[in-house]
Amino acid sequence: MDTVREIGALRDAVAALRDDGAAIALVPTMGALHDGHVALVEAARRPGVCIVASIFVNPRQFGANEDLARYPRREQADLRMLTEAGCDLVWMPSVETMYPDGFATNISVGGVSETFDGVARPGHFDGVATVVTKLFNQVRPDIAYFGEKDFQQLAVIRRMAIDLDLGIDIVGVPTQRDDDGLALSSRNVYLDVHERAKATALPRALGIAARSIARGDDAEDALVEARATLNAAGFDIDYVALADAETLAANPAADRPRRLLAAARMGATRLIDNIAIQDD
Ligand code: PAF
Repeated sequence: MDTVREIGALRDAVAALRDDGAAIALVPTMGALHDGHVALVEAARRPGVCIVASIFVNPRQFGANEDLARYPRREQADLRMLTEAGCDLVWMPSVETMYPDGFATNISVGGVSETFDGVARPGHFDGVATVVTKLFNQVRPDIAYFGEKDFQQLAVIRRMAIDLDLGIDIVGVPTQRDDDGLALSSRNVYLDVHERAKATALPRALGIAARSIARGDDAEDALVEARATLNAAGFDIDYVALADAETLAANPAADRPRRLLAAARMGATRLIDNIAIQDD
């Protein structure tokens, strides 16, 4: 597995992979990799496909009071994981390479980015859309893989790929969870042992609410109960909401694909999770 840090070297390396007749799959990451990222690489691993992973902690998607400075960085461990997972090439640009002096462009996706984390984290999805557009233009993949754990991010990127005629297939990969149900996240390392135990209330509350809504119970009652469970566990809630799984619009009709989404803080750690409403 090769690692490249300059745009010229990236272009040469991707061209060499393409010369061998391969399609290119991109797995964008911010590093601090876990089994959720490995699942993205595994989903991408198919005959005739070369996998490029990117590792870049993108400053533009962190708010002023967020965790950019303490976001975990574990380059050597990440590279070992990507090698073992079967990745072919790693793109690791510096901040200066991505955003040289004078950088002045912003990609902003309307609609799907305007609720939930778009409200709780102003500017976050512009930062994501801008860096993902750059990664797409740099690597020029045929297909790109994103975790469903960041469900709204996935919706934003899908919308952007359609709107800008990017010609890149955007694939969502199911959330990977620990044995106790907590969704894998690079930010889970911030939780101390007590917070970690209490945090399992998040997937539990969402699971109970999702099953209740799928049975046809009143959705608002289910959300109220989920919020009460999270508050009792010590969470400070940003949102717990039911949305249309494609448009993320509120109050989705029961015959539409629906998703339950939540964001809440356990101590200083902000966790997000989501779950499909599995109608029979
Ligand atoms: O999901 C992430 O890790 C990041 O938001 C992404 C897509 C790599 C963009 O920085």
